[in-house]
Amino acid sequence: MDDPTWWIDALMAPGGQELMAELAAEPLTAANEIRLITRLREKYPPELVPVAVGQAKLRARARAKFTYADRMYFTAPALEQASTERMARNHARRYAGFDRMADLCSGIGGDLIALAEGRSVLAADLDPVHSRLACINAEANAVGAAVECVCADVRDLSLDGIPAAFVDPARRAGGRRFQTGSGEPSLEWCFDLAARGTALGIKAAPGLPLELAPKGWEVEFVSEGGELKESVLWSPALATVPRRATLLPSGDTLVPKEGPAVEVRMPGEYLIDPDPAVTRSGTVEELARSLDCWKIDEQIAFLSGDQDVRTPFGRTLRVEASLPWNLKQLRQVLREAGIGVVDIRKRGSAVDVDEIQRKLKLTGARAATVVLTRVSDRPWMLACTDPRR
Ligand SMILES: C[S@@+](CC[C@H](N)C(=O)[O-])C[C@H]1O[C@@H](n2cnc3c(N)ncnc32)[C@H](O)[C@@H]1O
Repeated sequence: MDDPTWWIDALMAPGGQELMAELAAEPLTAANEIRLITRLREKYPPELVPVAVGQAKLRARARAKFTYADRMYFTAPALEQASTERMARNHARRYAGFDRMADLCSGIGGDLIALAEGRSVLAADLDPVHSRLACINAEANAVGAAVECVCADVRDLSLDGIPAAFVDPARRAGGRRFQTGSGEPSLEWCFDLAARGTALGIKAAPGLPLELAPKGWEVEFVSEGGELKESVLWSPALATVPRRATLLPSGDTLVPKEGPAVEVRMPGEYLIDPDPAVTRSGTVEELARSLDCWKIDEQIAFLSGDQDVRTPFGRTLRVEASLPWNLKQLRQVLREAGIGVVDIRKRGSAVDVDEIQRKLKLTGARAATVVLTRVSDRPWMLACTDPRR
C-alpha cells in the first residue's frame, strides 16, 4: 500500500467496479451508511470499502461541477480545485485554432475534458494520483483517445512541437492557501514559458491584481451564477482585449470600450448592482453607457437610472428610499414599508452588517435589499425591492 495509487487500481479492477456499482444502486444516507458499510465489508476487501464510500460521497459533491460525475474519480482537494465544466469550456474556446496543446497541472482533469474536445492534449501533473485520475476521467468523458497523461513536474517537460498550453498552478498545498498572485509553478515561470513562444492561458485567483499582467496580455474575470470564480491571463497570442468580464453559464462578456465619461448623479428610481466580474474587470463605465445609466459616486461601483433595465451584467433594484445613512431612520423606513427581512449589501461603507441586522429588529412580512454605500462621498443608505416580484 506504499503506492499512493493502489486504491485506483483496486477500484478499477472488476471487484472494485462491482463495489462502486453496488454503492451507486443504494444512495448513501446518514441513516443507512453504517449498515451499508457493514454489509459491503462482508463481500469486498475491507480496506477498499471506505475508499469506495469516499468516492461515492465525492461523486455526489462533484455533480455540481460535472455532468458525468458518477463515472469519474476524485480526491477531495483536487475536486475542490477543479474547474467546473462551464469554466473549462470557456477556457477551451480560446484554443479553437489549435489541434495540439498541453494541459499543465491537469489535476483530476476538470479542464482537460473540455480542452481535449477536438484536439490532442498532453496532460501533465506532478501528483501520481491526480495524473492517473485525469486519464481515467478523460476516458469517462469520451475524450480518452485524444489525451496523453504524464506524471511529471511541468518545469521539466519538453513542449517541443506543442504550440499552446493551459496552466492551472496549484493555489494551495498541504491544506494551506498561497497568497494571491503566487502559485506552484510560479507566475514568473508561466510568463517565461509564454515569452519562449507558447500561446498560454493561466488560471489564477479572482483577486489577482490587474497590474500583475504583463503588457499585451488579457485578464478575464469570470463569474458563475453571480459569484466571482477566477481570473484567467491570456498571453498576447490568445488575447483579444486588455480586460474582460465573462458571465457563466450564459457566456455574456463585457470588454472596455472608449466612450464619454459617465455622469455622477444622485440615485434615481432604480439601482444597478453590477456582477462582480464587471467590477473586478473595471468595465462598470462600459455597463453604465450601454444602459444609459449614471454613477452615484465617483469611486463606487453602483449605477443608477430611471428605467427598469434588464441586463445579464447586474441586478436591477427598485429604489424605495434613498437617504443619508442613519440607523434610526432606516428602521423607520423599513417598518413603515412592512419589511421584515433585509439583505444588506455594502460597498464603500465600514458599518458592521451583523450588528445592523440585530439592531433593526424588524417584524414585517416583505423582503428588501438595503444598500449601504457612499453618494457623492457621503455615507448613504438605499432601501430597495426587487422589481420582478
Ligand atoms: C489547481 S489544480 C489543477 C486543476 C485542474 N485544472 C482541474 O480543472 O481539474 C493544480 C494541480 O497542479 C499540480 N502541480 C503543482 N505543481 C506542479 C508542477 N510543478 N508540475 C506539475 N504539476 C504540478 C498539483 O498536483 C495539482 O493537481
